[in-house]
Formats: sequence, C-alpha cells, structure tokens
Amino acid sequence: MPVQIGASVRDFSDPTGLMTDCHRRVEMFLGALSKIGGLDDRPLTPSEHTDLDKALRYFREAAPKHTADEEESLFPRLRRIPDTEVKSALDALARLEEDHRWAAPLHAQVEQIGQQWLAGGRLSAEQKDTFRSAVAKLTSMYRAHIEVEERLVFPLAARILSKKEKSAMAREMTDRRSLAPPIPVVR
Ligand SMILES: [Fe+2]
Ligand SMILES: [Fe+2]
Repeated sequence: MPVQIGASVRDFSDPTGLMTDCHRRVEMFLGALSKIGGLDDRPLTPSEHTDLDKALRYFREAAPKHTADEEESLFPRLRRIPDTEVKSALDALARLEEDHRWAAPLHAQVEQIGQQWLAGGRLSAEQKDTFRSAVAKLTSMYRAHIEVEERLVFPLAARILSKKEKSAMAREMTDRRSLAPPIPVVR
C-alpha cells in the first residue's frame, strides 16, 4: 500500500525511502533560508515572505518528526539487531543523535529571528549575521549528517530489517503525522 509523506508516494515497505525524501526537503528549505539570509537590508517581498514562512514552518513542525522517525523508529531497531555490521555502525548512530541535539539551539535562533523578520521587524546587522551564521552551520552539518545516513545507515536498514519491522516503522511514521487511513502491519 502506498504511503504519502509530503509530496512523495512510497511503498510502506520502504521507510528509509520516505526518510530520504525528508532529506531532500531539509536541503530545499535550508537553501531557501540561505537565500533569504543573503538578501540586502530591505523589507521582504510577498514571495520572500512566503518562502521564509514555509521554511520556518518546515523546521518547526515537520523536521522534528523526521528526527523522531530516526531516533524512535529506526535507530532502536538497528540497535536491537545482534549483527557485527550493525554493531560497528552504532558509533555512527550515536554521532547522528549528537548532531540532532547540536542543531536544536541553531534552529531556535533561526526561528526566533525569522519570526521577527516575518512580523515586519527590521533586523539589526548583528541579528542578520546570527541568522546567516546559524543557517551556514546547519547547512554544513546536515550535508555530512545526511551523507552518513544515506550512505551507511539507510542501506544497512533496508538490507537488514525484516519486512515486519519496516512495515511497523512506516506505520509509526504515518501515525506520527496523524495520516489516515493507517497502513496495515505485516505479520
Ligand atoms: Fe538524522
Ligand atoms: Fe535524517
């Protein structure tokens, strides 16, 4: 049965494919924030306002669900598998979780300054610098982070997790987004 999260439709047997689609959205919205952060000191045009609003909303509402998909649905399942290849990937999982924590205060800065911008407030030069610097740090971190997830963790999960585990993961992902109807669990 197909599962739709965002604009993509994937089969429920492919939860890491759904997570990969989330990465493309992370990159797209970081790109939008970076572009807006580079604007001259002038009021936002209506389309820039919309782009900033959408990007902030993505990182406020959707991105934390992607983090939960990984930390609550994917990583614990990998950690339970008694396999030497998985054991050697555990360090990578710990570092990925550290990245998630590290990013939180930077996202908070972008959200706080971005909301002020959306409300029509002019930003000080210092606030603009803080916004740009936070977006640049996040962009650099996500580039390496996503590379590890897509090169190491997701292929390993796709290969090693059972159909039943993948189905349960996809169900948790749709439940996390309150998507209906719930998909069936493979037993
Ligand atoms: Fe991650
Ligand atoms: Fe991810």
